[in-house]
Order: sequence, then structure tokens, then C-alpha cells
Amino acid sequence: MKEFIIIGHKAVTAPFSLNDLPGAAGRMDILCRCVNAALFLSHDLRRDVRVYLVLKGGAPSKIVRFDGASVRYLSPDERSAASLIKKALEKQAQGFWTDSTPGVSVKIGEFGDLLGELNKKITYLMEDGVDIRTIPYTGSSDHLFVLGDHMGLTDDEENIIKGREHEIAGVGPLSLHADHCIILLHNEMDRSEKHI
Ligand SMILES: C[S@@+](CC[C@H](N)C(=O)[O-])C[C@H]1O[C@@H](n2cnc3c(N)ncnc32)[C@H](O)[C@@H]1O
Repeated sequence: MKEFIIIGHKAVTAPFSLNDLPGAAGRMDILCRCVNAALFLSHDLRRDVRVYLVLKGGAPSKIVRFDGASVRYLSPDERSAASLIKKALEKQAQGFWTDSTPGVSVKIGEFGDLLGELNKKITYLMEDGVDIRTIPYTGSSDHLFVLGDHMGLTDDEENIIKGREHEIAGVGPLSLHADHCIILLHNEMDRSEKHI
């Protein structure tokens, strides 16, 4: 299983207009692109991937989960992912996972709670991290990646990561968009799994 957590510091926690994802929805466009980068192949989906969007633009913060094994009604455009997030936010979220549309769930929760729930070694993606190509990604991959939005991660969020088993990895010498980093990560893992 490959799991990706993306933190949306401004992303709203209540239903939003699909017509202003970058503005009123609090850079929801970034999170939607991450969902697509994590889950889509050409004419197929990556079934071994889960994406967790931590929405921090309202109180309490919420987490929306996309599960590649069971997700339906998702097409590879931002608006489609946004529409499924919006539907999830229309649910009465609790402190446990509530199903929304197939393969999409929502809960009230914080970043730290989610790390505790997943309880895996974390690979935190950061511009000056250790070159990802020095980290072995073999067939039995079970990985948890954490990425920031346009604001990166706060000191508090970094401290939460540092309190758990983790590594800090970089995908290249330039600062990239989070969704582009996800594509590069997938490519490294794909190549490793195909022994290229
Ligand atoms: C647009 S960047 C964040 C830029 C933000 N202004 C900052 O200074 O942190 C979004 C996220 O992509 C990831 N990222 C961007 N470039 C990266 C790189 N070269 N290697 C690893 N992760 C990267 C990081 O997780 C970052 O938080």
C-alpha cells in the first residue's frame, strides 16, 4: 500500500462552490490535483494507493480519504475530485470514518491523529531532503508519504513528524508542486518494482 497525506492549510471543511477552488475553497485545487496524481494511470487507477487530505481551513479540521481500490465516479479532472470532496463534506463527519461516495470517506481529525492511526514509518517530502534515489523502493512497498500544499508544513506539523519514525526525502533540486512530486515518487516506485 502506498499512502499519501497532503495537508491543506486553507482548505475549507464545509461544502464549497466548485467554481472557485483556488479562492473560496482555500486552494482545494492543489489537493484535487494531488488526488489525481496519486490515483490515475492512463485508462486505469492505482488500486494500491490511498490519499488522505487534511483540511485545516475550518474548525474542527477534517480528513477526506480516497481509496484507489474502491473509488468510483472519479475522473481525471480537478472538478471531479472536488465534487467528491464536496460530497464528503456534506456528510455529518464524526471522529471515525464515515463513507461518502464509493471509495471516499471523511472524519473529523488532526494530522497527528492520522499519523497515529496509520502508524507507519513516514517519508516526509521536503526540498532539501535526502535524494529519493538513495532510498530503496522495492516490490513489497508499504509507504506513507507526507507533502505540504503551497505553504509547505508548519513547524508544529514538522515536530509531529519528527516525534515518529521518519525519513526526509527530496525528489530533485527544485521546489515543485506537490502533485508533481507525487508523480515523481510513483515513477521511482514503478521503476523499482519493474527492476528498471
Ligand atoms: C509548492 S511546495 C511548498 C512550497 C512552500 N512555499 C514551502 O516553502 O514549503 C509543496 C510541497 O511539495 C513538496 N516538495 C516540493 N518540492 C520538493 C522537492 N524537490 N523534493 C521533495 N518534496 C518537494 C513538499 O512537501 C512541499 O511542502
